[in-house]
Amino acid sequence: GQAVVDVTLHVNGRAERLRLDARVTLLDALRERLHLTGTKKGCDRGQCGACTVHVGGRRVLSCLTLAAGVNGEQVTTIEGLADGDRLHPMQQAFIDCDAFQCGFCTPGQIMSATALIREGHTRSDEEIRDFMSGNICRCGAYPNIVEAVRARRIPR
Ligand code: FES
Ligand code: FES
Repeated sequence: GQAVVDVTLHVNGRAERLRLDARVTLLDALRERLHLTGTKKGCDRGQCGACTVHVGGRRVLSCLTLAAGVNGEQVTTIEGLADGDRLHPMQQAFIDCDAFQCGFCTPGQIMSATALIREGHTRSDEEIRDFMSGNICRCGAYPNIVEAVRARRIPR
């Protein structure tokens, strides 16, 4: 049988009550139940970083996180970064630095990048590369991604 659970997720500042199978990932809950499709499903097995979101301010791979496991937590997705019509400074930096091509990896890159700045792991390009290494870009936009993170490493 399947275990059904009631969870409340605080997504981008909004309380969302969901009844779902206990095995549903946070990624599927966001995309399929809440229609927040900015978070991308690349590999669905923890290897590409496309699904990166913040839970309680920390970055997590939402494909490896059970929705039921983050009951009651604050979740931030790419949709929650902008302030109304004003892009988040990291979103603007990605545009200014041409840090994407197809854009598929970009939401995950930006969620990792904003967490990285909070973590303080942006002291050198090498450190940025190291701590962004879980975010794969098939288009190879890496130099521009590092440039964007470097440009925003002093948080506003
Ligand atoms: Fe989660 Fe690839 S979709 S790491
Ligand atoms: Fe295409 Fe990164 S911009 S995968």
